[in-house]
Amino acid sequence: MKEIFQMSAKTFYGFEDILCEELKKIEAIDVFKSNRIVHFKGNKEIMYKANLCLRTALKILLPIAKKKVSNYESLYKFSFDFEWEKYFDKDSSFYINSVCFGKDFTHSLYVSQRVKDGIVDRFRKSNGSRPTVDKLNPDVYIDVHIDNNFCTLSLNSSGRNLNQRGYRKKSTEAPLNEVLASGLILLSNWNKKDDFLDPMCGGGTFLFEACMIAKNIPPNLYRKRFAFKKWNDWDQDLFINILKSLTKKIKDTNPSILGFEKSKNTFNKLNYNIKNSNLSDFISVSNTDFFNSKKESKENLHILINPPYGVRIGHELEKIYGLIGDTLKQKYHNTNAWIISSNFEAIKRIGLKPSNKFKIYNGKLESKFLKYEIYEGSKKIKN
Ligand SMILES: C[S@@+](CC[C@H](N)C(=O)[O-])C[C@H]1O[C@@H](n2cnc3c(N)ncnc32)[C@H](O)[C@@H]1O
Repeated sequence: MKEIFQMSAKTFYGFEDILCEELKKIEAIDVFKSNRIVHFKGNKEIMYKANLCLRTALKILLPIAKKKVSNYESLYKFSFDFEWEKYFDKDSSFYINSVCFGKDFTHSLYVSQRVKDGIVDRFRKSNGSRPTVDKLNPDVYIDVHIDNNFCTLSLNSSGRNLNQRGYRKKSTEAPLNEVLASGLILLSNWNKKDDFLDPMCGGGTFLFEACMIAKNIPPNLYRKRFAFKKWNDWDQDLFINILKSLTKKIKDTNPSILGFEKSKNTFNKLNYNIKNSNLSDFISVSNTDFFNSKKESKENLHILINPPYGVRIGHELEKIYGLIGDTLKQKYHNTNAWIISSNFEAIKRIGLKPSNKFKIYNGKLESKFLKYEIYEGSKKIKN
């Protein structure tokens, strides 16, 4: 592998600028953004750091070939002609993930299949045998991206997406993607000093991510599996040195990170996940109904809420969003409260005027991320 090479980090809509900043902090070079992706250059150390440290990256790709293709047959030929043997051999296993945009390529699964056919036919022709496909634990992860007939083949250095941090031992209902949660906290400009509260915390994604941000803990410091560990040029000593230096930079602060969860069942799973993480000393949760709570101190408070958001507004949701507005206004003065929701009708029931807003996607759902500054005398507005 060349000393300095091209890489790309995939992200969510709206996080491109934050990801550029994160990349500059780890000293990546030639950083520039596009739609849901940031391109950059660096050496192997930067690649390892990108996988360990970037809070808003979903995966780190290394483009290895680019070509214009006009149909599935020319895609097959592109794959057949490419020197895959430079990157893996006939005894390896691989898995292909594809995304495609444009009118000529509409079936991502078929795109993966044609690229796979090109790979196995090439190996079979020269060796008589071929590498196998393994969806669960392949040696090599390959990404195919086709945008209006322009095809990029990449090696995926991360493997499974980087949101899989490893702290979610027991799953809860409708958790936020960890990369999305982290990006929202960064977008909300939390100063890392004010107390942090998620009063409807579910599985606690905001709490884990906020805690790691406050203590400068890289989000994937404790993750074991990365695709690059199976590559021929895997440098264990370099990786261990990076882990040591990142560990030294963890801050010895004791942030106040608090969560409320009303459902006993969800609360029990949340509690289990916190106790079995490395962050249990810094996160406190309570089986509390937000609407029966009040702010405990006069100090500034930073709140993030991901309330329930059914697709249609019903009486129950209407009531919940109205109560969020009432509770904040009446009992949470000196608070910056941020709410993410894809239910635009329900958002109106909050009845407070947002002072800032962003458009975000939660999976496929277009959502709003809204800031409400709550102070004594802030008024509810009528919708
Ligand atoms: C969409 S989920 C939050 C998911 C969370 N962000 C995560 O990543 O796991 C909303 C949560 O709010 C909880 N909830 C609803 N009403 C509540 C209330 N009044 N007080 C506290 N929690 C409440 C629900 O039980 C549910 O777990």
